[in-house]
Amino acid sequence: MNRIITLFAGAALALTAALPASAKEFRLGLITPPPHIWTKAAEAFGAELAEASGGAHSVTVFPARQLGNEAEMLQQLQTGALDMAFMTVAEVSNRAPDFGALYAPYLANDIAHAGRILRSDTARGMLDQLPAQVGVVGTGYGMAGLRQIVSRGSVASASDLSGLKLRITPFEPILDFYNAVGAAPTPMPLPSVYDALANGQVDAIDMDAELIWVLKYYEHADTVVQSDHMMFPMVGLVSARIWGGLSEEDRALIGEMMARHVDGTIDSYVEKEQGWLDQIKDTGRTYTKVDESFFGDAVTAWNDIWSKRSTSLDALRAVAEQTAQ
Ligand code: BEZ
Repeated sequence: MNRIITLFAGAALALTAALPASAKEFRLGLITPPPHIWTKAAEAFGAELAEASGGAHSVTVFPARQLGNEAEMLQQLQTGALDMAFMTVAEVSNRAPDFGALYAPYLANDIAHAGRILRSDTARGMLDQLPAQVGVVGTGYGMAGLRQIVSRGSVASASDLSGLKLRITPFEPILDFYNAVGAAPTPMPLPSVYDALANGQVDAIDMDAELIWVLKYYEHADTVVQSDHMMFPMVGLVSARIWGGLSEEDRALIGEMMARHVDGTIDSYVEKEQGWLDQIKDTGRTYTKVDESFFGDAVTAWNDIWSKRSTSLDALRAVAEQTAQ
């Protein structure tokens, strides 16, 4: 059990007998569609919180960007208009650049290693800066799969990515990576990706195995490059304004429970990632597995940029070394 969950857990256990002082109807937003692992984790968190509070608290989950994109939801969290969110760390890194270190290319050797890095005290300690810097409380990390490349045309080497309009999640670390590769990175939120690839608005996309398979992005592509070039962390957030108004007991209960449910997504991806990749491979697309050397100097170029922007990069590298197996 990781540090934050342990800290919250002691206090939470003590209060299961005591019902919360004031009932709350929380709203939790996220951008992923209803069948997505993050959305299911949010719903499970809400159901458990309702049960543990004897029905006093409830959580209504708003998936698929119903409350706006992540930038908008983060703003709502800051003002207290939204209570909670399960959000990409990508969006958080737009406000707190230190989190960019979590996107160091090839920081993680594989999906299980990514999980170990995210469960480290170093990664968790980074969440401490969120209340003062962003106005939110980070209860813990979850994640999605490692990042892969899906292309309408052939990609035999990194030079084939040169000038390609390649969809990225809108955040700086991935923009810097594909600029270093020589592609034409095109920031685009998740819901626009399927149509953009289908109608040729973009030539390629940066995506994880779950969504390549479940949302059928491969249908409009000839090539899948399993590059595993970055991890893709998620964070469970509570508005700092809302948090400040909660009793100590409720903070402990909600903090422990949310941290446990977002953490559970790590186990889901570790378990399921290879199965999705195998199914994608079986679709008959040209499928290549590449490593860091595929990207030439781009990884070094990224490291040069981000060693100046994130103070946590060296510490995370040390953790990555300690937790590699
Ligand atoms: C994406 O932007 O690619 C993405 C966002 C949330 C979950 C998974 C992927």
